[in-house]
Amino acid sequence: MTPQGAGKRVDATSLIKSFDAHARTYDRMVGADRNYHEHLRITTKRMGLKGGAGMRLLDVGCGTGASTAALLDAAPEAEVVAVDASGEMLAEARRKTWTGNVTFVQGDVEDLERAGVTGPFDGILAAYLIRNVEDPNAALRTLFGLLKPGAPLALHEYSVRDSFRAEFVWSLVSWGIIIPLGKIRTGDAGLYRYLWRSVMEFDGVEALTTRMKACGFVDVLHQTMPGWQQHILHTFLGRRPPNPEEAVPEGVAEQPTEVLEPAGPETAQKAAGKAAEVAPEKTAETPAPEVGAAEPQVSGFGNESPTPPSGIPVQGKPDPEK
Ligand SMILES: C[S@@+](CC[C@H](N)C(=O)[O-])C[C@H]1O[C@@H](n2cnc3c(N)ncnc32)[C@H](O)[C@@H]1O
Repeated sequence: MTPQGAGKRVDATSLIKSFDAHARTYDRMVGADRNYHEHLRITTKRMGLKGGAGMRLLDVGCGTGASTAALLDAAPEAEVVAVDASGEMLAEARRKTWTGNVTFVQGDVEDLERAGVTGPFDGILAAYLIRNVEDPNAALRTLFGLLKPGAPLALHEYSVRDSFRAEFVWSLVSWGIIIPLGKIRTGDAGLYRYLWRSVMEFDGVEALTTRMKACGFVDVLHQTMPGWQQHILHTFLGRRPPNPEEAVPEGVAEQPTEVLEPAGPETAQKAAGKAAEVAPEKTAETPAPEVGAAEPQVSGFGNESPTPPSGIPVQGKPDPEK
């Protein structure tokens, strides 16, 4: 589906045009959700970046820079490359004052090489992106190839299809608040109707974790967010397998902590190449573990040996005073 109506699941060109058109109002719209920035920070904290000293990180689909700021919040000492296909969204990001080391680059996740974005990265964040790309498997494989062995990928994404309650609450909030507010604030609710529909059509939690495994990621975990977005918005974490010589010997592998729910049964092999077709049964909701500021780090993530910064020009984290 395009922002305008029927067609392919995602029409990339019209979607990016839509983000271009909404760039000036985007921050005001997401600001209406008082949890938006905090949820992004929860995801970047879950990446276990330990301040980011010596690390090179990628924020793909950075938009106006909200996710970039969250990445710098977790890793203020890292060098961050922030990429987006929309020139207008990037212009909004660049307009902000940054006090860290960040470079904004225009490019498509499915063709990052053409944009001059090359790895290796010590961590990648894709916030509200993967649902919007034409070929999520191709995008995931590209990101996999850009990671250092053992480095984490975090997807911060809506996923409701495994839960009737989540679908119901998402539809209620979308049609009761988000879409009418989008119309009032921007004069055009098309992007926000697309948001509702794209979430309803995208992978459930099991399908997305299966998709990640099918694309080569290991230690795939997920956890939801606090607030009304509980069981609607999630962090999905995976990592590129470590080099064999760095791998933990069998039998003493780190167990996932209670913080994140391990992704469901191993169906990656079966799903390889056709993860989009996975349609898990809807499940009853179970209460999510409490998360928040005191949340422990996910063991096993972000422990890789750092790479020296490669001298990309210094900008940084947005100045909160601006
Ligand atoms: C919903 S916004 C999220 C922005 C930001 N990550 C945040 O958390 O606020 C999604 C962004 O992904 C970008 N995007 C969509 N498809 C893309 C693609 N194929 N390659 C790169 N960026 C893309 C859009 O231009 C938009 O800025």
